[in-house]
Amino acid sequence: MLTDYRSFYLCGLAGINPIGVVQVIRDILTLRRALAGLPRPVGFVPTMGALHAGHLSLIRRARKDNPTVVVSIYLNPTQFNQPEDLETYPSDLQRDLTLLQDEKVDVVFAPSHEEMYPAGFQVDRRWWPGRLAEVLEGRFRPGHFEGVITIVRRLFEAVRPDRAYFGQKDYQQWRIIERMAGDLFPGLQVIGLPTVRDDDGLALSSRNVRLSPQGRRRAALLPKALSQAREAIEADVPIPQAVQQARQMLEAAGVQVEYLEAVDPLTLEPVVEGNCLLCAAVYVEGVRLIDNVLVEK
Ligand code: PAF
Repeated sequence: MLTDYRSFYLCGLAGINPIGVVQVIRDILTLRRALAGLPRPVGFVPTMGALHAGHLSLIRRARKDNPTVVVSIYLNPTQFNQPEDLETYPSDLQRDLTLLQDEKVDVVFAPSHEEMYPAGFQVDRRWWPGRLAEVLEGRFRPGHFEGVITIVRRLFEAVRPDRAYFGQKDYQQWRIIERMAGDLFPGLQVIGLPTVRDDDGLALSSRNVRLSPQGRRRAALLPKALSQAREAIEADVPIPQAVQQARQMLEAAGVQVEYLEAVDPLTLEPVVEGNCLLCAAVYVEGVRLIDNVLVEK
């Protein structure tokens, strides 16, 4: 097995795909040429690297659904609204490539900044979903979705996938991309897959590695608070009361709650009755964590 990134990279540059070796491609032209020789449908999993079991669940589903699987690794600067979040974002390309090779991914697209942003780090505002991107994460992370929409649109234009896979932990992102695909990429199916959790219930996230063991225990209170709120709502406790109890439980344990809201699962507008999505963003040891659970009544 190749373990030297240069070997992965050089194979990609040369367009060579030795048996069992994932192709790593850095530019759109080479990507197009490589994909022209591979069977459709093409399944695509965009990532920012630092892969974990959540990414692998998307890749395995893509592998099951499609003869060709492309994974992108690109740490997109324009979606980070806090510079220290970008600076501390974990990255281990060598480990990621080994995992992707083990998953039998056909092509890894790991573009340079110049390839993704030929005119510098400018966001593309030609398409905007309105309120869907302005509530929840959009309200607390100004500029975040402009960056996500810009890069995902560029990646879709480069890869031209038939199916694209997103995790439901980033529920709002998934809904926005689904709408964008409906408007701009006819025929592209956007598939959202359930959040993968660790044994303590914490949703897998590349940022979890920054938590101390004690912080980790505190972070695990987030899924607990959300599932307790879900059970309370299912047992007919009014939504605002269940949400308030969840917030109090977290704050009493020293978890800083940025938002904890019950929203309509489609519009993401606040609701006080009926089906809802409970969504939260919290800080533990300076690490921002998000999570959500669906409540069906
Ligand atoms: O969810 C992510 O990892 C990123 O937002 C994405 C979709 C790869 C765009 O950079």
